[in-house]
Amino acid sequence: VTMRERLSLWAVFSLTDIFVCVAESVAVMSVDLGSEWMKIAIVKPGVPMEIALNKESRRKTPVAVCLKENERLFGDGALGVAVKNPKVVYRFLQSILGKTADNPQVAQYQKHFPEHQMQRDEKRGTVFFKFSEELQYTPEELLGMILNYSRGLAQDFAEQLIKDAVITVPACFNQAERRAVLQAAHIAGLKVLQLINDNTAVALNYGVFRRKDINSTAQVSSVSANATIVTYQTVKTKESGTQPQLQIRGVGFDRTLGGFEMELRLRDHLAKLFNEKKKSKKDVRENLRAMAKLLKEAQRLKTVLSANAEHMAQIEGLMDDIDFKAKVTRSEFEALCEDLFDRVPGPVKEALADAEMSMDEIDQVILVGGSTRVPRVQDVLLKAVGKEELSKNINADEAAAMGAVYQAAALSKAFKVKPFLVRDAAVFPIQVEFSRETEEEDGVKTMKHNKRILFQRMAPYPQRKVITFNRYMDDFVFYINYGDLGFLSEQDLKVFGSQNLTTVKLSGVGSSFKKHSDAESKGIKAHFNMDESGVLILDRVNAEKAEKPEEKSDGEKAEEKEEDKKPKPQKKRKISEDITVGLEVNDVLDPSTEDMEVSKKKLQDLTDRDLEKQEREKILNSLEAFIFETQDKLYQDEYLAVVTEEEKEQITGKLSEASNWMDEEGYAAGTKELKEKLSELKKLCKAMFFRVEERKKWPDSLAALDSILNHSTIFLKSVRLIPESDQIFTEVELKTLERVINETMTWKNETVAEQDKLSPTEKPKMQRRLFLPRAMMVRLIILFSQIH
Ligand SMILES: *[C@@H]1O[C@H](CO)[C@@H](O)[C@H](O)[C@H]1NC(C)=O
Ligand SMILES: *[C@@H]1O[C@H](CO)[C@@H](O)[C@H](O)[C@H]1NC(C)=O
Ligand SMILES: *[C@@H]1O[C@H](CO)[C@@H](O)[C@H](O)[C@H]1NC(C)=O
Ligand SMILES: *[C@@H]1O[C@H](CO)[C@@H](O)[C@H](O)[C@H]1NC(C)=O
Ligand SMILES: *[C@@H]1O[C@H](CO)[C@@H](O)[C@H](O)[C@H]1NC(C)=O
Ligand SMILES: *[C@@H]1O[C@H](CO)[C@@H](O)[C@H](O)[C@H]1NC(C)=O
Ligand SMILES: *[C@@H]1O[C@H](CO)[C@@H](O)[C@H](O)[C@H]1NC(C)=O
Repeated sequence: VTMRERLSLWAVFSLTDIFVCVAESVAVMSVDLGSEWMKIAIVKPGVPMEIALNKESRRKTPVAVCLKENERLFGDGALGVAVKNPKVVYRFLQSILGKTADNPQVAQYQKHFPEHQMQRDEKRGTVFFKFSEELQYTPEELLGMILNYSRGLAQDFAEQLIKDAVITVPACFNQAERRAVLQAAHIAGLKVLQLINDNTAVALNYGVFRRKDINSTAQVSSVSANATIVTYQTVKTKESGTQPQLQIRGVGFDRTLGGFEMELRLRDHLAKLFNEKKKSKKDVRENLRAMAKLLKEAQRLKTVLSANAEHMAQIEGLMDDIDFKAKVTRSEFEALCEDLFDRVPGPVKEALADAEMSMDEIDQVILVGGSTRVPRVQDVLLKAVGKEELSKNINADEAAAMGAVYQAAALSKAFKVKPFLVRDAAVFPIQVEFSRETEEEDGVKTMKHNKRILFQRMAPYPQRKVITFNRYMDDFVFYINYGDLGFLSEQDLKVFGSQNLTTVKLSGVGSSFKKHSDAESKGIKAHFNMDESGVLILDRVNAEKAEKPEEKSDGEKAEEKEEDKKPKPQKKRKISEDITVGLEVNDVLDPSTEDMEVSKKKLQDLTDRDLEKQEREKILNSLEAFIFETQDKLYQDEYLAVVTEEEKEQITGKLSEASNWMDEEGYAAGTKELKEKLSELKKLCKAMFFRVEERKKWPDSLAALDSILNHSTIFLKSVRLIPESDQIFTEVELKTLERVINETMTWKNETVAEQDKLSPTEKPKMQRRLFLPRAMMVRLIILFSQIH
């Protein structure tokens, strides 16, 4: 890229003071991946952060995949099938990601979606969906399909390829759940720049649009209903001076408290009302399709009741052709969810306790999440934070997607984004545990259990940590476990799954000690990293020693002085030996590399099949259109003028033959056959189309040539008038020009004359492709003489 190109590519735009420089033609995306909906945003050169519209031009897309026998549907298309054929549609996958089969969320999922057959993966202990003997899908694979679909939507919107994404996860996602999302993205071939907590993404978006209001005094905000306390403040950094920073101070959540739970209660209420009408002998709750219809209606009802005091639920032909109609009031809805509303303040209190703050220190309250539109939820939240009103000036629905895409642009090398520092916080403490034999004074050996906190609750990340083991002289084992999770409710603790993360088995410790036996041991160091995605990684383990500088002979010392005049303080040389690490995963086993490859191939095969189907449909449509349009053309004068009766009959015959073939076999024919059929017909009609097209172009071509001939003739004439003394052209040049003009004119005259003799049904002599070079030639000669 040249400097000039670079400059022209530096698109600078300002979106309420955000300043983005683009140096390369790269686009990045974000997916705000909710349990029910996803929102996608993009940044591309010249286009600031923008929500990508889906195929239906909507700003949010259902997180759903429909696996039909011969194709997949996504988004609204998949949701449309959910009512007719719930068995083939997979939704709400978020709750079972990174969970073992015995997790209560799995049982809950099975209860909500009895149409799906879920089985335990014996190797990993996780679950998969058994669609049929051959068709089995893990939740990660299904999510991978959806993520790749989201990429497709982003690409369509950006009109360019996209590989890099920031994906949101609920702040309460633990290690296994985060890894599951990363695996899904990996299967989909998406490069995850970062998993960002959804609350943090909202907070970032809020902060970015209020840069100017952030100063060195901490401003505190609370993000709803899964509560988060955030402080905004400018901080001084070594690298880039004073920058705004957000820091997550407290997080409180209630996993099973959400909009979906309310919808399920409404659904069950509607089912009860239907059963009470006793129009059918059967229990509607046992009819999967009817329940799917009721759920859809319940979702609509919930939304309507947020703005209206009552509403009529209505479903045509709910079951056995019986229509259903029932009035539901907001207070009935509120009564159904009373216990849920009681739980709303819980997370806020928890977050405040985390942040060691009180309500009156909160400056603004930002509401996000669908359920916060429910008026009762707002009332309860306001009371919980002791505020009169809420900050409504943020598009809560899209804030996470926008915050995440800002982060994506910041992380991508292709964009230069005004820095906004993000310090997230680890919701779950993590510690290292190990046992060591100790000898008491009386010589009795006992095992002593030790714990070292690695990341305490609300520890900021990304962050690296090193734990040093000082007393081990031989191979040993340590455990990485979650710390005290006492702050979780009993229910959330059960959903949390294993509290043990990894067993780390070190080997080669003893031999490393023997190697440099005279050096002073600095212990065994385990290097941990909690990365931007909140995923804990054990980078490496090494044995460190400090070697005392060797006593050197006088001769050597003299040599050293020669090289280095200044007497240096003699530093101890550090010796580092890598220790072999064996890891045993104790939470949820990751799929093996081979499993991942199998999954990738599975998805790729499905994509290929979908693309093949789309290709076939395209060809089918083209063929249909070709037959129809050509049949129509054979009634138009300009076509009739150029065909003989015989040719017309031949074409008409072939077209109706093809049309009949389409009606009978064509719809089952393969892509190849359809393509052949189409090209056969095109070949047949090619000459006719050529004649029509050429005739259409004659007037323009002739006029263009005439104009050039006219200009060059006039030019030649005027040049000839120049007195010899001033003449700048040589005679040879002028003769050449004259000859070309003459030849061209002769050619034109002859061609026109020949064409006049031809029948319109014959291949025309006068063709566009012959005009162009001649016209160009005359023009070139003029140019040449002008340069002269
Ligand atoms: C993902 O989607 C793209 C089209 O957007 C497609 O080319 C690619 O093959 C898909 N990848 C997988 C693994 O399905
Ligand atoms: C920082 O901003 C807040 C409001 O945005 C204001 O109340 C406060 O006085 C400011 N502090 C300083 C030190 O400028
Ligand atoms: C809180 O987050 C959890 C986990 O994503 C989700 O299931 C729940 O619906 C959220 N609750 C609210 C009120 O948004
Ligand atoms: C989890 O780790 C603790 C402490 O290391 C240990 O006592 C316990 O047995 C482990 N539990 C499981 C299920 O591995
Ligand atoms: C040729 O050009 C002259 C001057 O531009 C114009 O008056 C004349 O009509 C043109 N003749 C033809 C045949 O285009
Ligand atoms: C061009 O044609 C004219 C008559 O049309 C003729 O007088 C002239 O000699 C020709 N010039 C050349 C170079 O062929
Ligand atoms: C071409 O035809 C035009 C009139 O149709 C005539 O004036 C001209 O002299 C002809 N030129 C040549 C080179 O045949």
